[in-house]
Amino acid sequence: MGITTHRKVMSNLKYRVIFARMDEIFGKAGAVLDEIKAATAGNADEAEQFRIRYLGSKGVIKELFGFMGQLPNEKKRAYGQLMNTIKAAAEQKLEEFRQAFAQKSRGEGRPSDLTAPAYLYPMGTRHPLSIIRNKVIEIFSRVGFQVAEGPEIEDDWHNFTALNMPEDHPARDMQDTFFLTTDKKWLLRTHTSSVQIRVMEQRQPPMKFIFPGRVYRNETITARAHCTFHQVEGLYIDKDVSFADLKQTMLYFAQEMFGRYVEVRFRPSFFPFTEPSAEVDISCFVCGGSGCAVCKQSGWVEIGGCGMVDPAVLENCRIDYEKYTGYAFGMGIERIAMLKYQINDLRLFFQNDVRFLRQFRGAL
Ligand code: PHE
Repeated sequence: MGITTHRKVMSNLKYRVIFARMDEIFGKAGAVLDEIKAATAGNADEAEQFRIRYLGSKGVIKELFGFMGQLPNEKKRAYGQLMNTIKAAAEQKLEEFRQAFAQKSRGEGRPSDLTAPAYLYPMGTRHPLSIIRNKVIEIFSRVGFQVAEGPEIEDDWHNFTALNMPEDHPARDMQDTFFLTTDKKWLLRTHTSSVQIRVMEQRQPPMKFIFPGRVYRNETITARAHCTFHQVEGLYIDKDVSFADLKQTMLYFAQEMFGRYVEVRFRPSFFPFTEPSAEVDISCFVCGGSGCAVCKQSGWVEIGGCGMVDPAVLENCRIDYEKYTGYAFGMGIERIAMLKYQINDLRLFFQNDVRFLRQFRGAL
């Protein structure tokens, strides 16, 4: 016998052993499936025994899974599918048992085991931006603000012109705009201030609103800037509304959101649609004002812009600026969330990584 023939005989023999083992494994799995399908349980204890026998960590199914390594590669897929069928059949059976016994005990007016642990329902979490937005709405609702919304696709009038930013106004460059049409008439709103105009056009004072919503800016995405984020705008127009009212409202908000001992500071600033205008800072609630990484050692952090609504804006909306005055403010929702939860990268809000989102279970 030449050496080639000898090898052939050896390999045939090897394959015959493997095939025999394969038949045995598939046969065993098939028998388990039949067993599961035929299984019955007379009470909760028997159902539990069924669970331990088939689905337990040392159970039959676990054992069957262990044979996978002994199968030739081309059979692994079929075996895996069979295993999934078996596992699903066992789980379904168990669920049938559970329902049967739960019903029976309910029917008899006494559960079979009062000390049994409850089933755990996996609960989702709210997105941190939703948590903050809802909190902002709740805080302002308490002092009489209503909530309104406007469109994200805006026209030039509501986003710019009516807000005292005519076409050649340099302040338009403060916000890098996504234009939707070449004539620049339609765009993605760069701020929620556009909703001020929409609301003032439609009603007469008194009015007291907040406008939460998404805004867009043509910026490179980094840890500190994004092409989309969220703002909440505030608007209060009535007789005799003053800057003092604005300051008190900002103080009230800051203390409700960040803590009772937070102080506010107003820095003179400029917005075309408010006069005078200010930037609002709060004393750093992390270090109490002594200086830390969150406030970059300054003791203060910025939360938004504000000011008294410019009479020209009231006039654009046909509101009598001799009779009425008002204030407006705008704050970044991401900004508030980043401060509150000490998140250092804006991109995390939009990646929807569950490991990030899960951390906000039960927050605020
Ligand atoms: N719209 C301004 C911005 O996005 C913020 C602002 C709103 C300022 C209302 C004053 C009044 O930067």
